Amino acid sequence: MLLGQFDGKISEKHQVSLPKKFREVLGGKLIVTKGFEHCLIVVSEKNWKTLLEGTEGRPFTSKSTRELQRFLLGNAVDVELDTKGRFVLPEFLRAFAKIKNDVLFAGISPLGGGGHTLEILERGGKVLAIDQDPEAMEHIKNKLKAKSAKYTVGKDLILVQGNFSEIDSIINEHGFEKISGALFDLGLSSHQLETPERGFSFGKEAPLDMRMSPGLGVTAADLINGLTVNEMTELFRQFGEESFAGPIAKAIVSKRHIEPILTTVQLAQIIARVRHQKRGEHTHPATRVFQALRIAVNDELNSLKEVLPKALTLLEAGGRIAVISFHSLEDRIVKQQFLAWKDGGKGMILTKKPIVATEEEIARNPRSRSAKLRIFEKL
Ligand SMILES: C[S@@+](CC[C@H](N)C(=O)[O-])C[C@H]1O[C@@H](n2cnc3c(N)ncnc32)[C@H](O)[C@@H]1O
Repeated sequence: MLLGQFDGKISEKHQVSLPKKFREVLGGKLIVTKGFEHCLIVVSEKNWKTLLEGTEGRPFTSKSTRELQRFLLGNAVDVELDTKGRFVLPEFLRAFAKIKNDVLFAGISPLGGGGHTLEILERGGKVLAIDQDPEAMEHIKNKLKAKSAKYTVGKDLILVQGNFSEIDSIINEHGFEKISGALFDLGLSSHQLETPERGFSFGKEAPLDMRMSPGLGVTAADLINGLTVNEMTELFRQFGEESFAGPIAKAIVSKRHIEPILTTVQLAQIIARVRHQKRGEHTHPATRVFQALRIAVNDELNSLKEVLPKALTLLEAGGRIAVISFHSLEDRIVKQQFLAWKDGGKGMILTKKPIVATEEEIARNPRSRSAKLRIFEKL
């Protein structure tokens, strides 16, 4: 995590020297663009890709969001640090940020991958983190190592690979009785989306896998090559809210008579031939089908329905459950469960309306655009 502020200078040759702490995290190849309140945004090449990939395939809900993307892209330059960690800042960016001599560097949290967990640890909390993806475990362990082991895995942070629907037994096994809070950050991590081999992304050729855990038995390819037209139609309708569910299912079945459909791009192309992108529509035609498959492969909605009552039981009085969801099917489950608890006198809903990301947060992390946070407090 990039925290803290550092003072710097700009040289007569317009060179800025990046603080060592930032260089270590960002690497040598950077993208610089205009930010807010005359600040500049500096991101690593990898995070810039994440930013752009996160934008693709996401609904462009508002004109302001599109304008924001144009603003970020249109003002971006790529720079490479020299051996002394310096880069040249172009004139238009210097003018925008009103930089003459002094520069102030301020850090922010990176995208995804244990962000919440580390944030809670930073604030003195103890975390039992459950993720069904073994790669997520490795990722956070490496992140902690990079923080010179300020926190101890097994003491401050207990990492459990498993499905959170089994929260009750997992908590017992690790010697907890009650918890003061539970945060469910649903859906996919940046790491999962950015690893093509996992098969979540239609933009890159990869096997149609989509399992969050290698222990799961059924892949997206199994569903695509095994379900009947009716079953597939129902799946795309229910979990993808896809209005072209029937024609897409039919096209898949007639294609698989010729050859099995095994890759992400193969499937995306079949869908694109049936469901044309409308003018002005920025969402990829395959978005809804991919969402439906992912939900089915990982049984996502049932896990959520199962875990919420269990978490409430485990919560101490005054404790809170927070859920961040990324699509309407998840959000509906959370909303209805919270309302039922409220009506049953179990506590109160702290978020009359879900909390959504600010434009600034979306600029930093485009995936937050569809995020909705709801919080319930137990009596
Ligand atoms: C949005 S990411 C979490 C990002 C993390 N909170 C952060 O700040 O970087 C969602 C994670 O939840 C995991 N996940 C989704 N459903 C799960 C389930 N039923 N049980 C356990 N983990 C699950 C996924 O494997 C993924 O790593």
